[in-house]
Amino acid sequence: MENLISLSNLKPKEIKYLIERAERIKVDYPKYARRLFEKTLLMMFEAPSLRTRISFEVAMTQLHGQPINYYMENSPWKLGKESIEDVAKTISQYCNVVAARLYSHTNLKKLARHSTIPVINMMTNNGHPCQILGDFLTIKEELGTLENLKIAYLGDAKNNVTYSLMRICAITNNELVIACPKDKEYYPEQRVINEVKKLSKKYKGKIKITDNPLEAVKGADIIYTDSWMSYRIPKEEKEKRINDLKPYQVNKKIFSKAKKNTKFMHCLPATRGHEVTADIIDGKNSIVFPQAKNRMYIQKAILLTLLGR
Ligand code: CP
Repeated sequence: MENLISLSNLKPKEIKYLIERAERIKVDYPKYARRLFEKTLLMMFEAPSLRTRISFEVAMTQLHGQPINYYMENSPWKLGKESIEDVAKTISQYCNVVAARLYSHTNLKKLARHSTIPVINMMTNNGHPCQILGDFLTIKEELGTLENLKIAYLGDAKNNVTYSLMRICAITNNELVIACPKDKEYYPEQRVINEVKKLSKKYKGKIKITDNPLEAVKGADIIYTDSWMSYRIPKEEKEKRINDLKPYQVNKKIFSKAKKNTKFMHCLPATRGHEVTADIIDGKNSIVFPQAKNRMYIQKAILLTLLGR
């Protein structure tokens, strides 16, 4: 593994390895404590973050490495004064690994192409691989397996979390049923559907898309949703989105159509009363905070693996 740009580039055994490594790191912290001594992680942020930033920063610090946070609004790149190529070549000389949260996946790929150090995708318009790898660590802990599960995703499906879920389910032989409006504003982009079809053919996962949330949650082991107002969506669109997405809210009625022990997942930040009701996200079947906690362990596994430690 040279970079972590998209889950599509990983094989099932690499996904399994990262998750099992995170499990080992979680139980045997002293063994790994100094493995990144004198290594520097540069974190570049074009978009806001709580979980990703803090979990990477703590992960790097606990491994005795040095994290640097670089918010890009006043960077020469964002001010149009410097090319991505020159940024990549420069930072590669100071740091050992770079993680970037960029709006454009094309820019992330360009950064990776011109860097001589490993590059990690901390979220782009095309995917959020670190999030979903951490989520699968949580699924393994909670359900004891990474295969033959039915996951239902409800709500706005034209986003990075859904795209990474589609990819991992296709690769790891799971069933993902997405319930979202047919409107192209909320529907996965055709290029991602095509990409995931190829992965499913190769690895036997099953990805379906419906506009019926009850059909999606029937027999589901997990119900997953994400914010209806992701970071870049303008405030003016809020009312329309609430109206359009209301039938896909994860609430008691939806949950009662799943199984008794169905788990609720959300990558956070969440808005109670929008995509999920408070009784569900704060209820006994919710695993959103173990999910958030596991971000740190999977970040450690990703950093150690990319740096060959
Ligand atoms: N889930 C997630 O990526 O959270 P942040 O945006 O706070 O990093």
